[in-house]
Amino acid sequence: MAVIAFAGASGGPGVTATALAALLTWPLADGRRAVLAECDPDGGSIAAGYLESRVLGDYGLHNLEVAHRRHQLDQDFWYQLIDLSEQNTQDRLLLPGLSNPVQAAGLAQVWHRLGLLFEQAQTKDNGYDFLVDLGRSGATGSAGALARSADIVAVVVRRTLRAASAAKPRVEALRAALEDRGRDSSRLGLIVIDEGDFRARDIAEQLQLPIFATLPHDPRAAQVLTHGGDGGRYFGRSALLREARAMSEQLRALAVQEQQRLLAPALRSQTVLDRMKGAVNAAR
Ligand SMILES: Nc1ncnc2c1ncn2[C@@H]1O[C@H](COP(=O)(O)OP(=O)(O)OP(=O)(O)O)[C@@H](O)[C@H]1O
Ligand SMILES: [Mg+2]
Repeated sequence: MAVIAFAGASGGPGVTATALAALLTWPLADGRRAVLAECDPDGGSIAAGYLESRVLGDYGLHNLEVAHRRHQLDQDFWYQLIDLSEQNTQDRLLLPGLSNPVQAAGLAQVWHRLGLLFEQAQTKDNGYDFLVDLGRSGATGSAGALARSADIVAVVVRRTLRAASAAKPRVEALRAALEDRGRDSSRLGLIVIDEGDFRARDIAEQLQLPIFATLPHDPRAAQVLTHGGDGGRYFGRSALLREARAMSEQLRALAVQEQQRLLAPALRSQTVLDRMKGAVNAAR
């Protein structure tokens, strides 16, 4: 039903923590499952962070290069997932990211295939929702291919000048990458982490993006997401997880809205390509 990509910029605004919070709180109904794919070309951090390297075995994105070369990616993908659900119900799954950024060089062909796999597996019959951590860099490689396949792309940012100026080129590159490929950039928006001197709407205005959701600045709960540890009762009841639940509902609703918009061409706002075609026809 949904493919949501999370992107950030330099300075570690909290992309991975936000994407993981989304996985742990994702609304699952009718036997659906959620998968978080750590596709940050600079490397993943959940296996060594939240999972404290407790998972034995060799799982993860790096194995998909060989799988792709053997034309087995669609089958092998599912064997690379780790179950993060509380009761081992296999409905909250993680594709661990690269342990070494050097491995990204071998994945140039894989990003596009992965994007297609996400698009196919999210259909109603297949029953998966995908959350994709694109990390901080660029709008080419993983970010270009996977942002295009996502229903919505959420840029995580804090309410500081430094965060906004770091996010600006990233937002512009993502916007251009989407428009270049005939997808309009209305699917881009912000998740604002509530820390900083500026108002969320000033940051939104500066980046010219809507705010999809806001998350509280909650270092104690975020620490569990990024470094592991029990967190005890506090974690489950934390402001961060509570608000993450609302964020997840909102992101899912936005993704569904976007899919409906694409299915209704008459209501679809024009892409750059449409406008160009219109101008050419009018000139004839
Ligand atoms: N909502 C939050 N409140 C407080 N601290 C947070 C929040 N989200 C993340 N953090 C903290 O910010 C730091 C960076 O988080 P994280 O690793 O998720 O960022 P990132 O954007 O994925 O960084 P990178 O670009 O290195 O992958 C961590 O110390 C984390 O605990
Ligand atoms: Mg990260």
